[in-house]
Amino acid sequence: MSSQGFVLWFTGLSGSGKSTLASRVAEALRTKGVPVEILDGDEVRENLSKGLGFSREDRDTNVRRIGFVANLLAKHGVCVITAAISPYRAIRDEVRRQAKAPFIEVYADAPLAVVEARDTKGLYKQARARLIPNMTGIDDPYEAPLNPEIVAHTGAESVEVSTARILEHLQVAGLVRP
Ligand code: ADX
Repeated sequence: MSSQGFVLWFTGLSGSGKSTLASRVAEALRTKGVPVEILDGDEVRENLSKGLGFSREDRDTNVRRIGFVANLLAKHGVCVITAAISPYRAIRDEVRRQAKAPFIEVYADAPLAVVEARDTKGLYKQARARLIPNMTGIDDPYEAPLNPEIVAHTGAESVEVSTARILEHLQVAGLVRP
């Protein structure tokens, strides 16, 4: 079966719902028989980017690696879904420029107050207590995309609604069959 590869690139604060949406969208695509791979920040940091920290340089290296692998896969018809904070606009735009397949940026836009209140991993609390440095949104920058293809209002809308909107975008763009 041949299919049109693409890169669905999530960006957003830690806890903004990137991984959740990535797996929901992947699930929906798989039921359509589409080949899908997820490159999740937390997982990538356990293997491909093991040893990297959270300085700007290390984050940029991490994001470039994810972009590189995404490109390789998408070139061969895989629908690649990435879920890393990818906080710096310049590197996201670099990855987009280098994409050899359609590149769709999804901004998981949840306010800091919301992700901090959720604090699923307890990291925000630790960052406020100065136990961990360079926490995105607290003492490290997050540069929101200026022109993302999709904004998922993950602080306000449900996972189902965000997932449906993303799938609809992919269908309208002709990247996925209805
Ligand atoms: S990125 O900035 O390089 O794109 P990535 O998505 O891979 O980040 O990793 C972010 C994850 O690492 C977060 O979801 C969180 O679980 C963990 N983490 C640990 N320390 C930090 C930190 N200082 N800032 C952001 N995330 C951190």
